[in-house]
Amino acid sequence: MKIAVIGTGYVGLVTGTCFAETGNTVTCVDIDEEKVKKLQSGIVTIYEPGLEVLFERNIQQGRLRFTTDLAEGVKGAKVIFLALPTPPDEDGSADLKYILQVAEQLGPLLEDYTVVVDKSTVPVGTAELVHERIARNAKVEFDVVSNPEFLREGVAVEDFMKPERVVVGTRSERARKIMEQLYAPMVRQGNPILFMDERSAEMTKYAANAFLATKITFMNEIANLCERVGANVDEVRRGIGTDSRIGKRFLFAGIGYGGSCFPKDVQALAKTAEENGYNFRILKAVMQVNQEQKTKLIPALKEFFGGSLQGKRIAIWGLSFKPYTDDVREAPSLENIKVLLNEGAIVKAYDPEAMENVKKILGNQIEYAESPYGALVNADALMIMTEWPVFRTPDFEVVEQLLKNKAIFDGRNLYEPRQMAELGFHYVSIGRMKVAQPEIQA
Ligand code: UDX
Repeated sequence: MKIAVIGTGYVGLVTGTCFAETGNTVTCVDIDEEKVKKLQSGIVTIYEPGLEVLFERNIQQGRLRFTTDLAEGVKGAKVIFLALPTPPDEDGSADLKYILQVAEQLGPLLEDYTVVVDKSTVPVGTAELVHERIARNAKVEFDVVSNPEFLREGVAVEDFMKPERVVVGTRSERARKIMEQLYAPMVRQGNPILFMDERSAEMTKYAANAFLATKITFMNEIANLCERVGANVDEVRRGIGTDSRIGKRFLFAGIGYGGSCFPKDVQALAKTAEENGYNFRILKAVMQVNQEQKTKLIPALKEFFGGSLQGKRIAIWGLSFKPYTDDVREAPSLENIKVLLNEGAIVKAYDPEAMENVKKILGNQIEYAESPYGALVNADALMIMTEWPVFRTPDFEVVEQLLKNKAIFDGRNLYEPRQMAELGFHYVSIGRMKVAQPEIQA
């Protein structure tokens, strides 16, 4: 099938590449000339494990192309995916200007019946708005379908090729058949394509992300309480996660969720609720708790240094909002660094993938290390912000030699408090026993 993907950001690039891999001819369109030039010359513009192999293969075999020309890109396409950004407005609602602009331009370009697919996360009712914009200038029949993506960064290719479910919002039989055909290779193993109306599909995406953000936040509050009552959140997680009604996943307490989706989507859903006269109280609490959770380790860090961080050298392991991505959007690391710098601390950070992106934001306000251990040289304490595997089993003898104080503040619960106690570290984590070692070196 011939398809077009408008927008070559994270979602668009994965969508386009994966549909090419299943034998379709895909043209990706983007207004960013620099980006399109890079893509045309075979450079993958995002970090996503497993994407490069598919990308190269499909370019070579002529199934994947890139252009800045919308008319050329959509010519002959049976399905057009809109994978455009929907950044939050000042008031938190999703800004639809990019999507609606493109919809308006699409109308006169359609030459035959076309399915236009909203792939971006868009507020309930957007499919109808897009339909109305295209219809202003369209001469042929078309349908607008909502097909939200549930890709996780870092495992996006796998999520796309083997989704647990595909959600398609359309009431058109014609569009339904085409979407079924397109996704057939992805649901071979029996996972469902769930067809529903457009509004329910749009709502499904927000409900899924808001639910997961709430699940994490609930666990973070349980962790905060565990600390006060002397319980261990790891044990509690195991205890409740084995109940299949709760499930094992997304129960890891830490310094909060970040990324390009959860914060934005929770905010947008709260806004939708407000606009519809509904006070969605849980979501408000989730946003507030998550914000506070991000810098939760700071008071313990200050206390360790007798109340002031002035002049203290703090090593940071992990900058991305989660492992296997270079994405630092809404990353807890950035919130922490902001506070540390305000308090007069000196920060040296290491991340396997995200340092370039942080340099674009913070420049030389912090120092960057070339290895995990490099960040520790002469540092007064170590903070862990992201659970990259490389941080999981360090040589603690080396850590001890390099750090001025044996002090670790772990926002991702990577180590066992008991083991850290035996090794003589001052170790603070989330929702578990605090291991206190009083001595501080000046
Ligand atoms: C998420 C959704 O999972 C995906 O379906 C949607 O399409 C986009 O948003 P992503 O942002 O890539 O994907 O990250 P995800 O792996 O879901 O993690 C989100 C955040 O939650 C991260 O900051 C992560 O560190 C945090 N998290 C996750 C926890 O704090 N605890 C957990 O148990 C799980």
